Parts: sequence; C-alpha cells; structure tokens
Amino acid sequence: MKKDDPKFTTTDAGAPVSSDEFSLTVGPDGPILLHDHYLMEQMASFNREMIPDRQPHAKGSGAFGHFEVTQDVSAYTKAALFQPGTKTDVLARFSTVAGEGGSPDTWRDVRGFALKFYTSEGNYDMVGNNTPVFFVRDPMKFQHFIHSQKRRADSGLRDNDMQWDFWTLSPETAHQVTILMSDRGVPRSYRHMNGYTSHTYMWVNAKGERFWVKYHFKTDQGIETLPQEEADRIAGEDADCHRRDLFNAIKKGDCPSWTLKVQIMPFEEAANYRFNPFDLTKVWPHEDYPLHEVGRLTLNRNPSDFHTEIEQAAFEPNNFVPGIGPSPDRMLLARLISYADAHRARLGVNYRQIPVNRPKCPVHSYSKGGAMRIDNVSDPVYVPNSKGGPQADPERYPESAVWSASGEFMRTAYTLRKDDDDFSQPGALVREVMNDAQRDRLVSNVVGHLKGGVSEPVLKRALEYWSNIDKEVGSRIAKGVKGS
Ligand code: NDP
Ligand code: HEM
Repeated sequence: MKKDDPKFTTTDAGAPVSSDEFSLTVGPDGPILLHDHYLMEQMASFNREMIPDRQPHAKGSGAFGHFEVTQDVSAYTKAALFQPGTKTDVLARFSTVAGEGGSPDTWRDVRGFALKFYTSEGNYDMVGNNTPVFFVRDPMKFQHFIHSQKRRADSGLRDNDMQWDFWTLSPETAHQVTILMSDRGVPRSYRHMNGYTSHTYMWVNAKGERFWVKYHFKTDQGIETLPQEEADRIAGEDADCHRRDLFNAIKKGDCPSWTLKVQIMPFEEAANYRFNPFDLTKVWPHEDYPLHEVGRLTLNRNPSDFHTEIEQAAFEPNNFVPGIGPSPDRMLLARLISYADAHRARLGVNYRQIPVNRPKCPVHSYSKGGAMRIDNVSDPVYVPNSKGGPQADPERYPESAVWSASGEFMRTAYTLRKDDDDFSQPGALVREVMNDAQRDRLVSNVVGHLKGGVSEPVLKRALEYWSNIDKEVGSRIAKGVKGS
C-alpha cells in the first residue's frame, strides 16, 4: 500500500475485510454463518468496551501540560521537579466524587484535582481535591462516608437523609461540609477552582533537613462558582459542561494555569503546634504559615483518546520521588495502599505499562509476568545476583522521609491538643471569611438540602450541628427549614 492510498478497513489482526455493512450469510435471505469471525470480533470487542468506573471519582475530565518552577525552593526539597528552571510534563484529571460516569458535572460535590508529574526520577502523583480539608480523619470511616454519599441499597437512589445521618454522627465533617455547602461546592468550571493536597507531606532537602508542607494550586483564571439554581438548570441542559469547557478552552488555545504555593512548617514545630497539624479536617492558618510560590502548572493538550489517556489513567498517592514523602496523617498512609490496589482491580496488575501511566525515565524493577505485560523482562530476575542486575543504592537514595514513633498497638483517636476541636475552623470560615451574600447563599443551600428528604431524628441533629458551627447561621437555617 502506498502512503497516499485511501485507508481500508482491517480486522484487529490487520487483515483486509470485505464488507463494513454485511455479515456472511447463506444466500441473501439465509442464516448467518458461524465462521463469520469478523462479525464475532466486532460484537465481542463492543461487549468488552466498558471498564469499571472508578469507585469513587468516576466522572472526570483530563488534559496534559507541564509544571514550570518559577521560584527557588531548593532549601526545602531536593526533588528534581521542584529545582529552579525545571519543566516537567504533567497529566491532570479533575472529577466529581459521588456521581457515576454519566452524572452531571454541576452536582454539588467536592472536586478531585489529580496530577501526575512525569519527573526524571520517576512518576510523582499529587492526588488532591479542590478543598483544603476532608470529611473524616481516620481511613476506617472513608468507605462508610462514600457509601453514605452514593446510592441506597433498596431503591438505588441517592438520599440526603443518609448523607446528613453520617455527617451529623461524625462532627469532624463540619469543616468540609461547610465548604461543600458554600459557593465552592459548585465551581463554574474545572478551570475556575483551586487544588489542594489537603494532606500534609514531608519535604527533604539535599542536606537531609525535613519540613512539613501543604500545597495550594491557585487558579490563575480566578475562583468562579455557580449558584444552585444555575447549577440545577445546567445539569439538565448540558450534564458534561465542565468536560466541554476544559476541552474547548484548550482546543482554542485558552490554556488554563494554576500557581503552586506551599505552606512550610519546620519539622520540629509539628510536635508542639496548638492542634494536630496532620489532622486532615483542619487547615494551617495563613497567618501562622504563609504561602510561598513554587511554580506554575499549565494545561495545553487535550487527550486524543479519552479512554486510553483519561479513563485508564491511574493516579496513586504512593508515587513519591526523592525529596518528597508522607506525613503521619493516617488518611494519607491508608491511601498509599488503597490506590494501587484499586488500579490492579480496575486495570490489571500491569497498569503502569499503559502509556499514560508509564514513567518517562528508565524503569529497572524486578516485577515480571502478569496479565497484559508488554515490556520484555530480562535476566537476572532476582536479587541479590552476581549477573549485573540493578541494585538499590542506599548511599544515593537513603530512606529520607522518616519520623520516629512509639507506643502500644491500639485503635483510638489522635491525641487531643489544646485547639483540637471540630467547629472552630468552619466557624471562622463562616464568620470571618464569608461576606453577607456568601453567608446568605450558604444558608439557602443548606436549607434546600435539608428540605430534600431529611427527616427526624437526623434533622434535629443537623440543626444542632449548624448551631455548633455558628449560632446565627444555625438559627437562620432552623428558621428556613421550619418555615417550609
Ligand atoms: P485567610 O483569610 O488567610 O484565608 C481564607 C481562605 O479561605 C483563603 O485561602 C480563601 O481562598 C479561602 N476561601 C474563601 N471562601 C472560601 C470558601 N467558601 N470555602 C473554602 N475556602 C474559602 O484565613 P485563615 O488562613 O486564617 O483561615 C480561615 C478559614 O479560611 C479556615 O478556617 C478555613 O475554613 C478557610 N481556608 C483556609 C485555608 C488555609 O490554608 N489557611 C485554605 C482555604 C480555606 P482564596 O484565596 O482562594 O480565595
Ligand atoms: C479516587 C480511595 C481519600 C482524592 C479514589 C479511588 C479510591 C480512593 C479507591 C479510585 C481510584 C481509581 O480507581 O482510580 C480513597 C481512600 C481514602 C481517600 C481509601 C481515604 C482513606 C481521598 C482524599 C483525597 C482524595 C483525602 C483528596 C485530598 C481522590 C481523587 C481521586 C480519588 C482526586 C480520583 C483520581 C483520578 O482522577 O483518577 N480514592 N481516597 N481521596 N481520590 Fe481518594
């Protein structure tokens, strides 16, 4: 075949086929022949097109781009991707949490903000949200939390009563629920929201000095949100509006960007800070830990095949690189195990060989075999060996993101510190950060949600919950609900 010849249809094995229209039959009116393997290939391939949705964060959109360092933070981390002048390829995926693959983009929900940095020292994944905190602080409760936000066992329906039942019996949810019910619970688009690690991470510099950090990706497009009525209308008119917005913006060259800023806490300060700085339901006040600029994330390339590049993308908080590591946040520590397991179940054991997940640096691991392995494995397949196989280099890459711990094994809450409570920070958000109009919309959103099927005794607890966050807002919500 010459280069400019028109393309002809082939089987998946590359052999030309003789019809795109007709199956192989006995005469024009007779039965289909069983040996029409091309028809069989078409039907079988179609029957296997769908892969399981992610549980949670099923509905999402993604794009490629790069991260460029603009400030020198080498005093805090030796990570190659954060060294001055470095530019790193990135994949981003934004998502809603509770909805299924076809659910409306404008449902009130937290948004996922997941990034994969293809660094020269391996993939580094930052799997965050558009909020700086989370609903629970112990991973034992995560599965129950997600169940309460999804669908009932009997009717298969989502249920506000179930959501508030969980939230009001788990007061640590108050901060995240306040943000969810505020304007930020429905971004105008994925381009108009911030991204946060939410968790605290450890940075380690070239001298081995350790720091605690939280990342804030601030949208350069500005924060914009949708009022509830507009979100409801758009949900019916264009369920994919955020996917469309991101794709079209990049297509026309209006490339969105975010400025990465970090809060940095010296390692020793964590031990005596006034509240547990690793508690995922709390922020570090900017007054105590101001933001330091690091660089800029820009998205400038759309996927060319949504399935292979976005649906099969596998983000994993366990993907660290030298100079970055975990903190004692138990939610984060559980996530280091959960995601790779989810990917093995959803995509198969060799999911890291799918091109979008493949590191852009050499891989010298001792993994071998497994379904859908693509890379050839070469001998030796074991270590230690005297055959020239790769060897760990503890001098160059010591275990550096470490801290000390001691105690009996137990199942209990974090030790409480002086300012550890569930309601002060959401209270500060309502009283000190929101203006009157934002507070009015918060009240209206909560009243609307509670009127959507929340019954006693959950309703009574919900009113107490809001009065614990803020007396005045609580009494306005109570009035709004009872005035129905
Ligand atoms: P600051 O006044 O320094 O910061 C207030 C922050 O609130 C800003 O980062 C602002 O984000 C953000 N914000 C504004 N409206 C909302 C909203 N509806 N939902 C979530 N965030 C919002 O105060 P503090 O650092 O002392 O924190 C006070 C309260 O602000 C906290 O209790 C927390 O609820 C909230 N907050 C604090 C953050 C932090 O890291 N310290 C981060 C985000 C929220 P932006 O700059 O993007 O407008
Ligand atoms: C997706 C587990 C907390 C952000 C997922 C998935 C699982 C999971 C199993 C689906 C993964 C997949 O199939 O690809 C957990 C557990 C948590 C937890 C066990 C707590 C113990 C969090 C927190 C955040 C977060 C605190 C944000 C700070 C995300 C994002 C995705 C996701 C953004 C979607 C990633 C993508 O775009 O593919 N989570 N999660 N999760 N989670 Fe979590």
